[in-house]
Amino acid sequence: MSLALPDKVNVLLVGSGGREHALAWRLMQSPHLGTLWVDRDANAGLLECGRPCPEPFTLARKYYLDRWLAKENIGFIIIGPEQPLAEGLSDAFATSTRPVFGPSKAAARLEWDKAYAKSIMRQSSVPTAEGRVCTTLNAALTYVTERDEPCVVKAAGLAAGKGVAVCKDKAEAVAAVKRCMESKTFGDAGTTVVIEERLEGQEISVLALVDGRTITLLDTVQDHKQVGEGDTGPNTGGMGAYCPTPLVDDALLASIAHDIFVPTVDGLRRQGVEYRGVLFAGLMLTHAGPKVLEFNCRFGDPETQTLMARFRGDLLKVLWQTATGTLADAEFSFDERTACCVVVCSKGYPGKVRAGLPVSGLIPLRGSDGGASSPYHFHGGTRLAKDRTVGTAGGRVVGVTALGANLGEAVRAATQGCECIGFDGAFFRRDIGHRVLAPTHADR
Ligand code: AMP
Ligand code: GLY
Repeated sequence: MSLALPDKVNVLLVGSGGREHALAWRLMQSPHLGTLWVDRDANAGLLECGRPCPEPFTLARKYYLDRWLAKENIGFIIIGPEQPLAEGLSDAFATSTRPVFGPSKAAARLEWDKAYAKSIMRQSSVPTAEGRVCTTLNAALTYVTERDEPCVVKAAGLAAGKGVAVCKDKAEAVAAVKRCMESKTFGDAGTTVVIEERLEGQEISVLALVDGRTITLLDTVQDHKQVGEGDTGPNTGGMGAYCPTPLVDDALLASIAHDIFVPTVDGLRRQGVEYRGVLFAGLMLTHAGPKVLEFNCRFGDPETQTLMARFRGDLLKVLWQTATGTLADAEFSFDERTACCVVVCSKGYPGKVRAGLPVSGLIPLRGSDGGASSPYHFHGGTRLAKDRTVGTAGGRVVGVTALGANLGEAVRAATQGCECIGFDGAFFRRDIGHRVLAPTHADR
């Protein structure tokens, strides 16, 4: 479908978190934006950017959504999270005149089925951790007890970022397998497990826009998954990120495009699957070169907050071009400065958190003001109460995102910005960027 972008288009942005708030803010600066509609469950920040869709964006409401989309003359749908993509909502709502940004269910399988992703990588010689797919408890237990090296046990399906156990010994691996396949902690997502070698190195996030043919890599990001400073404690959705990372130079980026993105997109195409949307590779930079830890079929959170802080161009047009197969014509760039996002979290995260705690110190983002000065407060888990006050509504509450002349300055500005956000039990990591700013022996 090669469809011209109208002068004005009404847009529905699906998803309710920090990633979507950052996308919404840049979308609002597009001269092509008519009315922006946001998710019915949008956070308080998103509600400052657009009007809430009256329906939940699910297949079960398709009849009502179709009528509403027609009534409001919605011309473009942008899907943020993985769940609706895994449910096939990109396929279900795209029409010949209304493109959807976000891959088809078949293409999104790279994220919702880690066993499938492994098979595509194997067939296409994409470097990834050596591993095995197990579909029975016995096979998985035998495999982890016979191995001598530390391993990683992954539920093959979507488990909201909780299905991966990085194990230091056999006992942990056995327990992780049993959690997936015996206690069924992740439901159907854990009926198949992928068990792979544990890789060492620095982890980076590389996101690319893909329109079926053209693949355009965005600047690279380093996320910090663990909850505690010094990368300690349980994994989270991401405690903070910075962009670009000096760990990747032009030559390495070119090899990542050539050895990872191109063969993966081609491997899908050989199976009759066209990838359109954003393809996000979580990579480990090992001594033997970059290797894929996982693919996501969506923008990352908090990676997107740092990318959007630096994005220069018309985001609406670029996403439209990606969705309609004309990415080769896209023009955009990234600010020279470094961006850092530090996420202010609620006590207890990544476990249980309290909702409804009043949040103070938030600066509204004037969406149309692209020049608003940083730090930007991208809302994650917030809710607008009936009395128009903002309360907490999740673990990752606000992503404070700042630009700086270098990484140190960006980190300082974002960290200082976090001090201004107040709610009961708020906490954040003060060491985002530490693996580059103050590398430990293992990082060198
Ligand atoms: P995933 O959801 O597959 O990205 O896994 C979540 C996190 O687990 C990653 O961000 C890594 O920090 C870690 N991880 C996943 N796979 C491996 C691996 N093969 N070796 C070491 N760490 C891994
Ligand atoms: N920050 C990692 C993710 O979005 O999956």
